[in-house]
Parts: sequence; structure tokens; C-alpha cells
Amino acid sequence: MKNTFVKKAQDILNENFQEGGYTIPSKKLYPFQWKWDSGFIALGYAHFDMSKAKKEIETLLDAQWSNGFIPHIVFHITSNTYFPGPKFHLSSLHPDAPKKLSSTGMTQPPVLGFVLERLYDISKDKENILQFIKLQIDKIYANHIYFYSQRDINDEGLVYIYHNWESGTDNSPLWDDIWKTMNPPKYKFERKDTTHVDPSQRPTNREYDHYLNIIEIAKTHNYNDEKIALHSPFLVIDPLFNSILIRSNEALIRLYKILGGNKEKINYLKKQNFKSIDALNKKLFRNDLGAYVHYDLRNEKHILSLSSSSFSPLFCGAPNKKRGIKLLNTFMNKFGDPKYYLCASFNPKDKKFNPKKYWRGPVWINLNWILYNGLKRYGFNEIAQRIKDDSIFLIEKNGFYEYFDPRKKISNIENIGYGGSNFSWSAALYLDFLND
Ligand code: SER
Repeated sequence: MKNTFVKKAQDILNENFQEGGYTIPSKKLYPFQWKWDSGFIALGYAHFDMSKAKKEIETLLDAQWSNGFIPHIVFHITSNTYFPGPKFHLSSLHPDAPKKLSSTGMTQPPVLGFVLERLYDISKDKENILQFIKLQIDKIYANHIYFYSQRDINDEGLVYIYHNWESGTDNSPLWDDIWKTMNPPKYKFERKDTTHVDPSQRPTNREYDHYLNIIEIAKTHNYNDEKIALHSPFLVIDPLFNSILIRSNEALIRLYKILGGNKEKINYLKKQNFKSIDALNKKLFRNDLGAYVHYDLRNEKHILSLSSSSFSPLFCGAPNKKRGIKLLNTFMNKFGDPKYYLCASFNPKDKKFNPKKYWRGPVWINLNWILYNGLKRYGFNEIAQRIKDDSIFLIEKNGFYEYFDPRKKISNIENIGYGGSNFSWSAALYLDFLND
């Protein structure tokens, strides 16, 4: 039986693979290459077709800007099934954007470091994969330098995101108070996503006004980082984004050591990680909530809500053992009720929890993968196993969907897979979970 699902997962990835050497997340809904999707997708390919895993990373890095920035969407082709497309984003406004490929002017969580490391661990031909790593690693290092030089405005080891789409957790209730500080115009635009997916599972039009408005402001400043830091109404330090960056630093350190030489880079990354972990613990951990929270840098305050991102520092080893246990207790207390599958993307005990709507409650397989690996790092194996079992169960019962309803009681009555079907990272990470 397992073999049928493995074959299906591989088929999804192969069918979503495009002529240009990259993989779309899901047909029609997401017809281009997305940054963190590509990283997770590469992990899936690594288990049955390493050449495609490598290609995925190469095509993404083809769109890297000369300042080290890696965009969140690469528009390799034109498509009329997605909005906002290349004509809206206009990455060419920035002088460092490549001339031959258009992209967005925003980024997504920096997964490529730990992805490269996992490809090394999975590969049976170490010499071959090391050759590949040698060709790519400095580009990822340059990307980390970009983050610390352009996006750490207080020089504290923590980098900001300037758009909710940069967080990856697009319409989380975390951002609701920030929307209240803005009053964007009502843009005239045609949503495409809601023609492919039930609108009740997607962000609202008014939310999109805010998303577009932040991009318009960034465009006014030609995507200049310094100006964005001064003028963007959305400026947030995200524990998920920073934990992924720290975990990727750690991966680069290990890979540079395996490659040999590279002392200066290793020292830089070590120093940076020391500083970042300290700042993450001091600035983002709230003792009263027993978890890490987001920091609204524009309005200088913590965002006091818990989401699956609140526990992601386990992934990069930031909490000490005692704090790790505290975090686990909070996790079980708020998210661990056995009536829910793990892990809801937003606190099920919060009144803003919505089990059907995108990042306002549903279970996402990539966050499950991050939490699984974080919990395992601390030896919290039982809960890690529960996350893995729930992920596999949700996929095998409902299909390779984009996200899932966490409520067990309705899972016996209806299909609880939502958003895009045949979704690439759900397929890829299913394969990685099975091979772990
Ligand atoms: N995830 C966003 C979307 O829904 C873009 O990154 O289009």
C-alpha cells in the first residue's frame, strides 16, 4: 500500500516539473517557481532523482540578484492563471536584479543552507554531491551576507521581513494588528487564486489590498532595502524566518568544514550564529507565554499570539534544554489537544483560529517537517513521532493537498484536504518523512 503513495508522490513531482528545469508548487494556482517550495521539493527529489534535486536549486539560484538577494517567485514563463505576476512586481526596478529573468522583489525563508546539507546526507555518491555543493555554497553564503548586511538594521543578529508573503505564513492572524495601522486604497484587480480554490480557504480581497499596497510602497523606492526599512508599514522580526536562517548557517558551517579551507567564512557564520541565537532568546522569547513570538519592528512591540512559528527555534537549537521543555509544555498545552491533528498553524485556543483558512489554522506539511526535526533535536521523540504520523495519515487519507483541517471530528465525514491538490512540497516531504 505504501508503495502506491510513494509512486503517487513521485508522479506529482514529475508532473509538476517544468521544461525550464524547475517545479511548480501546484498546477494553475502557482504556475511559477517559489523559493521555499523549491527547497522542500529538492528534498523529495533527492530520494529518487538527485539530478532533479540539483536542477531545482540551480534554476532558483539563476534568479539570484548581484547583491545576494534570492527572490520569492521566479517568473520563468508568462502565465495568466496567477495574480500578481511579473508586470505587477517589476523586479527590474532594482539595479541588482538580473536582466534576463523577472522575479518578485521580496524573498522567503532562507531554506537553501539546510537543504544543501540534507542533500549531502541523503546522497549515496558523496563525491558527486560535494562537487555540486562546491558550486552552489558560496551563492547561499552571499545570500546570508545580504540578510545580515541589509536587513539587520539594529545590528543585533536578527533580520526583518518587510512583507507577510516573505514570512511564508501569508495571512496569519499575526498580521491583523499591522493591517489596522494601514489604510490602503481599494485596488482594482482580478484575483486568480479564488477561481482555482474555494475563496473561504484563501485570504480576502481586503487583505490583498494590504499585500499589494506594501509592494507599491517598495516599488516607489525601487526595492531599495534602506528605504524599505524606513518606509514599509510592515517590518517584522519573525522567529520562523530567523530560526531557518540560523539553521542554514549551521548547515553551511558543516559543509564548509567538509569541503575544507574556508576558515574566514566558517568563523563569520559561527560568530553570527552565536549573536543571533542570543538575540532570538533575549528579544523574542516571552516567559509569560512560554514561547517565542514575532516582533513588530515598525511599531516596536511584540505580537502576542502563538502560531506554529513560535516553536520553530527548536529547529535551530536556540533554546537551552530547560527552555526547550517549557516550549514543549506550551506546545502541548495549546496545540496538543488530541482532538486536533498536529500541528495547527495558529493557536486553536485563540478566537482568531480558523481551521479552514490558509495560514489561520490549517496544518501545513512543511511546518510539520520543521517542528518534527526540531523536536527530534531535543529528544522529544514521542511528540515528534506524533507529528510525523499525523502528516502521513492526513496525506494518505485525503490526498497530497496544500493544507489540512486540524479537526479530527470532521475528518471521518469529509475530505479535509484544502487549497491546491497534487501539491509539490506535500509530496516531497511525504517522501522525506518516510525515508527519515
Ligand atoms: N503564497 C502566496 C500566494 O498565495 C504568494 O507567495 O500567492
